[in-house]
Order: sequence, then structure tokens, then C-alpha cells
Amino acid sequence: MLKPSLVKELKNILGPANLFTSHEELVAYSYDATQKESLPWAVARPAAAQEVSDILVLANRELIPVVPRGAGTGMSGGSVPVHGGIVLSLERMNKILEIDGNDLLAVVEPGVVTGDFQREVEARGLLYPPDPASSRFCTMGGNVAECAGGLRAVKYGVTKDYVLGLEVVLPTGELIQTGARTAKSVAGYDLTRLIIGSEGTLGVVTKIIVRLLPLPETVRALSAFFPDIEGAARAVSGITASRIIPRALEFVDREALRAVENYLKEDISGGAAAMLLVEVDGPAPTTERELAQIEAVCRKAGAVRIARAETDSEREHIWKARRSISPALYTIKPKKMSEDIVVPRSRIPDILREITAIGQKYGLLIVNFGHAGDGNIHTNIMVDDADLPKAERAVKEIFEATLRLKGSISGEHGIGLSKAAYLPMEVGPAALAAMKRIKDALDPNHILNPGKIFLEKEATNR
Ligand code: MLT
Ligand code: ZN
Repeated sequence: MLKPSLVKELKNILGPANLFTSHEELVAYSYDATQKESLPWAVARPAAAQEVSDILVLANRELIPVVPRGAGTGMSGGSVPVHGGIVLSLERMNKILEIDGNDLLAVVEPGVVTGDFQREVEARGLLYPPDPASSRFCTMGGNVAECAGGLRAVKYGVTKDYVLGLEVVLPTGELIQTGARTAKSVAGYDLTRLIIGSEGTLGVVTKIIVRLLPLPETVRALSAFFPDIEGAARAVSGITASRIIPRALEFVDREALRAVENYLKEDISGGAAAMLLVEVDGPAPTTERELAQIEAVCRKAGAVRIARAETDSEREHIWKARRSISPALYTIKPKKMSEDIVVPRSRIPDILREITAIGQKYGLLIVNFGHAGDGNIHTNIMVDDADLPKAERAVKEIFEATLRLKGSISGEHGIGLSKAAYLPMEVGPAALAAMKRIKDALDPNHILNPGKIFLEKEATNR
């Protein structure tokens, strides 16, 4: 609970309509896509960087946790206010400030919805490649905080590859600019990269300068269906071996296919055990040639059916199915432990074998889908409450297998709450200590997004 005097002070900063304190309002800002939840004491909806700064100064004075929030679509609990405090919702800072087709950049506020931004730049013949599966809802600020990846990373990279500079309010309230509006800049430490993926623990992003690309001339897609997951894995290796880099190369296993078919009430696969979705872009003759090569590779790998998306609406249709997997999985079980391990792409068959063995050992249903082209697999352990203890053990073993295969425990969702216990397995004590020293230096009172990334209790006012 906030003292009435602080409620008054916050209302003075934000205007009374932009501070929420009623129970119903607090519930709406208490959770993200992990199903984890914790009530904040208040929700602040600033409209400007200065308001963010004033709130952080107040929070330091009073030692109150502040948790930045975009659209709450995160998959690791990053925006869940585990220690209460103030949720700082950036939803009102939602303007596209500039799209510059000459310098190939854009400047946006953090609350801009990523899919809306993609559409705006595409209408001007430009492309913003990062494309999280939740692009219709997630925000650019949330994407920066988590360094979101998504469907096109295989060819174009992830959020950090497109951010040229940031305006950031540091945890202690100072407003800084990082990076530049230029294609290159090496002036001082790369604070832009430090903030990207810091999961809202090192600063609040209030403006983002992103790099844009020319819109490719054509985009073509196909779906290929296999009688087993091994065939799909062979096709992934075959596509890479053909020296083709599709802009998306996604796989979906049997259980995920059935779930999405139930959810959309549509037979997508004709009962297949695995599906690959492949999209290429570029000049028309190139995409036509690549699509034909990919078809041949899929056939050789054992595809039983291949369907080209001939029109934009057919293409959108297959991506709608892919983007629906996450919600569709709840038709299988009420809960899922959703991970985003990543392995060198040649090790995908090995990690899938290990995951199957771990699932069998614990009698758990593990559903796999994801960004095969990146080696980034979403393993979803489907559980009831009673399964949770063995599911935790299974997760640890999946992470151990991932690290043995020289992978990483998080390709794109971040550590947040969900993986804080496992971060030391990957980064080791010296790197972990260095990360904590950075946190201490920028946020001496540990008021910004406490309880995330590191396991220790961090906020100081409880
Ligand atoms: C996806 O690729 O669909 C997202 O990262 C979400 C998920 O893992 O469920
Ligand atoms: Zn993903």
C-alpha cells in the first residue's frame, strides 16, 4: 500500500486520471503471459520521460519498487510486480515520432505496438524486421527490454540488431541518450546494448531509434508436412546446406499441430506429425528459385504434402496458425512451463531426442515448436498443479542438456522470474558477479524491477 501522501504526490506528477489504485485496476496490471501474478500497490501511466524521471526520484527517496511494463505479453515474468510497488505502464507513450526514409531510421515511443509500427513502415516501402509471435499486441519498449527475437531472426537478427540509440531514464532518475542516429557509432561504452535485454532492471526506455531496411520486392511462403519430426529436422539441415537463408524457418510438432487445429477448428495438416513453415523474401526470380529448391529439399527429407501460400491472405493464414500456438496449447492442459532454449542449429535433432527422453522419464507431455532456423525451440511442459514438482526437475534437465550441447537457456524470452534460478548454470560466478556490479552501480537502491534475473531478494523496503 502507498501512503496517502505518496498517492497525492504521484497524482501531482501524472495527473489524477493516470494513477490507478483500485483493486480491479491493479489486477489488470498484475500478470504477464507466464500466468504468474502479483498485485502492485499502484499503476502509474506517464506520458513523458520527465514524469518517468520524477517517479523514479520519488521511488528512490521512499525505497519503493518500480516495475516497467509494456503490453504484458512477456514470457518470463519480467513485468510482474513480485515485490509490489508501482507498475510503470508505458502504454500512453505510444507515438511513432518519425519515419525517415532517407536515413532509413525511425524514432518511436516505447508503447507503440510492434505490429502497428511494422505496418506503418511497410506502407512507406520499408521493413522493420524483428517480428515476435505476439507482434499484434507486444510493444517496442517491451521488445527492447527483453531483446525480443521472433519469426524472422533466422535471416535478419533480433531487436538489438536494429536499435541505433535510446533515450533512457536511469533508475536514479537521470535522463540519458545512448547511441546515435547514424549507421555506426563507437563513442564510449555501448550503453544501448547494455540496456537492450536488461529486462527493465537498468533503466526505463522512453524513446527508441531503430534502423530500417528497404521492403523486399517479394515474399513467398510454404508449409511442408512430415510423417515424423526427424523428417522435418532433416529438411531444416537440408535448407541450410543448400545455402538458402529463409526469412522464417519454423517447425511445429504433432502435439502443437493438434492443439492449434482444435483451437482454430480447422484441419491444417491432414494428421501429419510435424510441420515446417518457410518464408523467403527478395527479388521475384530469387524467391521463386529458392521456393522450388526448398520444396525439393522437403520432398527428399520425406514431406508427404507441401502447400505453397499463393496469395497474401494464404500467407497470413499460415502465420496466423503459427502465432496461435501459444494460446492454443492451453486446450491441452491448464498450465504450461514454456521455455525458449537455443542450441547450435545442427544440434536440433540431439536436443529433441533429449527432450523426448526427459518427457518419458517423468511421464510428462512436452510440446515443441519454434524457430528451427535459429536452433531456438519452445519446449512447453504441459502440466496440472500436481505435475509441477516433476516438471521443475524436467526443466532443469532440459537446461543441462541444452548447455551440454553448447546452447543457451534463453534465446529470446529473457530470464525474469522463470529462469532466475538457472542463470548461474549458464553464466558462471564471475560473470554473474559482474552483472550484479553493473546493477549495483546503476540502481544502488535496487528499486527498478527487483526480483528479476538474479535470485536474491533485492528491494529494500519490505
Ligand atoms: C513464439 O515464438 O510463439 C513465442 O516466443 C511465444 C511462445 O514461446 O509461446
Ligand atoms: Zn518465439
